[in-house]
Amino acid sequence: MRILRFRLNGDDVEIAAPDHWTLLEILRYRAGLTGTKQGCDKGDCGACTLHLDGRSVLSCITLAADADGRDVTTIEGLVSASGPDVVQDCFDEAGCLQCGFCQPGMIMASRQLVTENPAATRAEIKAALAGNLCRCTGYTKIYEAVENACRRTREGGGAAAAGVTRAAEDGADG
Ligand code: FES
Ligand code: FES
Repeated sequence: MRILRFRLNGDDVEIAAPDHWTLLEILRYRAGLTGTKQGCDKGDCGACTLHLDGRSVLSCITLAADADGRDVTTIEGLVSASGPDVVQDCFDEAGCLQCGFCQPGMIMASRQLVTENPAATRAEIKAALAGNLCRCTGYTKIYEAVENACRRTREGGGAAAAGVTRAAEDGADG
């Protein structure tokens, strides 16, 4: 058992967990954040995607210890006082999902893309979401939702979550 200290959706937290637990496990079973989904649990489906220091990672194959001292953003952290994130809004508007199980991971992967490349082409969107599987529906409306989020961001209406913004700035610095 170890005590992990990290920033979770903008708050400093301390969470005790067994050494072998994954980041997904401590979020769902210690922090009570069930928005991040447990799908395949072996790195194949993308349902558990979240941001670690602003970059998408698969939390089912990331050790909780790797989050120590770092910045974790989950789907819950994308909502701000001004409402849902633009990517969440565009997914909602597009009605592009059915059961919704894949949605948090899809949105987190899309959020990184929209921040880093708001001029993304359809091919780039497909590539960015290639690791996120949906068993219910076709992908066309999902791609359209991301294109819409890109367009709204280019027009100035798509502020990113804090962690994602920081990562983009770090990348720009080299
Ligand atoms: S639950 Fe992590 S990739 Fe499927
Ligand atoms: S909407 Fe059901 S898995 Fe994607």
